[in-house]
Amino acid sequence: MKPVILTVLLAAAAQAQPPSLKDAFQGIFRIGAAVNQAQFEERDARGAAVIAAQFNTISPENVLKWEAIHPRPGAYNFDPGDRYVAFGEKHNMFIVGHCLVWHSQTPSWVFQDETGQPLARDALLDRMHDHIRTVVGRYKGRIGGWDVVNEALDDGGAMRKSQWYNIIGGDFIIKAFQYAHEADPQAQLYYNDYSLENEAKRKGAVELIKKLQAAGVPITAIGLQGHDKLDWPTLQQQADTIDAFKALGIKVNITEFDIDVLPRTTRQNTADVSAAATVAAAGGAGSNPYANGLPGEVQQALARRYADLFGVFLKYRGTITRITFWGVTDGDSWLNNFPTRGRTNYPLLFDRQGQPKPAFDAVLKTAGSK
Ligand code: GLA
Repeated sequence: MKPVILTVLLAAAAQAQPPSLKDAFQGIFRIGAAVNQAQFEERDARGAAVIAAQFNTISPENVLKWEAIHPRPGAYNFDPGDRYVAFGEKHNMFIVGHCLVWHSQTPSWVFQDETGQPLARDALLDRMHDHIRTVVGRYKGRIGGWDVVNEALDDGGAMRKSQWYNIIGGDFIIKAFQYAHEADPQAQLYYNDYSLENEAKRKGAVELIKKLQAAGVPITAIGLQGHDKLDWPTLQQQADTIDAFKALGIKVNITEFDIDVLPRTTRQNTADVSAAATVAAAGGAGSNPYANGLPGEVQQALARRYADLFGVFLKYRGTITRITFWGVTDGDSWLNNFPTRGRTNYPLLFDRQGQPKPAFDAVLKTAGSK
């Protein structure tokens, strides 16, 4: 074939490829998604194809959480985690581990002895050490970064009174980071939390990170979960939050990004997973207004909102290194069931058929104006 014809054909083929988030933000941010088991096992072939085409980093929605990977004392269930990591390697992705120490999705035996009594501090530290050494050690050199501690603060910015805190004390965080670093000295280590855009909680997080730094803890980045709404956080709150952590010399990742378009059904503005209710309890059909489709104006408002937030993120290139969506398509999202079960939400960039939404185009466009 003549070189000129080949060039024309290649150019046509390149044009036929749908644009991808990972290419658009190449050299600026890694762009990722939290993936579920059907996706990384490729039983959800459509979802797996979107992930491979669009993203260059993945997070595991559930399979590395304590209850999944370490369901009983001494019994580890590595199989799903192994397949998650293999999927990421197959597609040359940056693979995130989520999460090592959290108050939720952690079995109650973790905090008890054989007779059901609360463990003493040293015994719980030993258990945490064993868990971190085993899980981080298994994926050493393959998982590039770990959410070491998830959600250790309450909404006011004080330490959450979790069993980790109550039994071990505030230094459980320092210990968790030390154990993770020991198990894989090359891995990036993160503290991950929600609602840090609110000033009180952000201040608590800044104090916490300063304490970790003073104790010599190797923390790479803070994860802002980014469970956002159409009207929260403001762009100013978003920028102030990134600035606050940038000033501490750490990176900032957006780790669980989604934008809830449904009416609030709880008084708190929270991503606390213990806050779920049912549609009926939450005020009936009025709380689920888009069960038959998203009106055009809300679709456009969502697209603008995504573009506005990406506009802020782009101002912080160099500080923000990764933006991960919590899910791939709207149908996969936890927000169909949180904080109210059984609603129809539209928080992501791909619709229930796996097709890009106006919000996808709006986000891509922000990369073009970089
Ligand atoms: C929190 C956790 C995630 C996930 C989401 C909701 O933000 O960090 O692992 O459970 O809630 O699904």
